[in-house]
Amino acid sequence: MQQLEQLNFTGQTSAFIAPINCVARRDETPDATTFIFEACNQAVFNFIPGQFITLQLEIDGHEYARSYSMSSSPSRPFTLECTIKRVKGGVVSNWLIDNLQPDMSLNALAPAGDFNLQNSQQPARYLLLSAGSGITPVMSMARWLLDTNSTAQIDFVHSSPNRDNTIFQKRLEMLDKIYDNFNLNQLFSRPANADDAQRFSAEWLNQNITDLEDTEVYVCGPTGYMQDVEAALKARGFNMERFFKESFQPEAPTENTDINAASTFALEVEGQKTIEIKAGQSILDAVEKAGLDMTAACRAGVCGACKCLIINGKAESSSQANLSEEDLEQGYALACSTTVSSNSHVKIG
Ligand code: FES
Repeated sequence: MQQLEQLNFTGQTSAFIAPINCVARRDETPDATTFIFEACNQAVFNFIPGQFITLQLEIDGHEYARSYSMSSSPSRPFTLECTIKRVKGGVVSNWLIDNLQPDMSLNALAPAGDFNLQNSQQPARYLLLSAGSGITPVMSMARWLLDTNSTAQIDFVHSSPNRDNTIFQKRLEMLDKIYDNFNLNQLFSRPANADDAQRFSAEWLNQNITDLEDTEVYVCGPTGYMQDVEAALKARGFNMERFFKESFQPEAPTENTDINAASTFALEVEGQKTIEIKAGQSILDAVEKAGLDMTAACRAGVCGACKCLIINGKAESSSQANLSEEDLEQGYALACSTTVSSNSHVKIG
């Protein structure tokens, strides 16, 4: 076991890339599949329930990187599961479902993501709300809590079209049956009998979840759904410091209205050369356009792979995902999500 711990998948603190092998796949619904991975060299997966990994792959000569939440629990560290739903026009998700088979391997970046249970105060109740494929990170949380013998009440509220189109339907029913502290609530928008259709609403919450004392709420789903949940809880007077939502899509870079879009600045890349960067252009984009190598994966401010050090200059970031307070104090930023508005000097990885 000691050897396995030494090979801990997340033993490295900075972003890294490691190969993982697909060992099995399981269809969950007609358009969602769970892929089960093993790390190479018998390493174990160590992540926090709710986090995601970023998969890197090449499709038709183009390189892609996409982040997917884990649906498994780190209490079972020898495998890692990601449940992927087919997306209209989604190159990577659809390719994975159509092509990824056992014995194939992919590169993955270290698990990451701030939507997780790390800072949970171990409340008396967890209210886990999800819609559609947003179920994956909260399923990981539920599995972790149950595997680690949490005595907290887990109210699991999931919205989906109907039973046949619910990811983990059988597992949800099984958990509900086995664990006294797991309480399943399902809202079907298109059940067999249209009169039984239900959608999440403030009224539904007030009628069905009556006790929110000493509760932490975690929600993942489409933006509109998460906004509805947030509004319902606020209207209920819930302490929003105990409300956590997955924000997989980072905010768009902030427009800096003081800057003429035509402005360009000199960007000195430590130990390499000085390049040109336009106002509004990300450091990553400028560096790559100048022909310099830089590690990057999601290109959307979620994975942390493109961490760079701003040695000087005026920089503005739209995402600080996976950067610690210490990183921020030292001047680290995410190159894909950072623009500059003065001549600047950076060190890239
Ligand atoms: S490439 Fe993922 S955060 Fe920048």
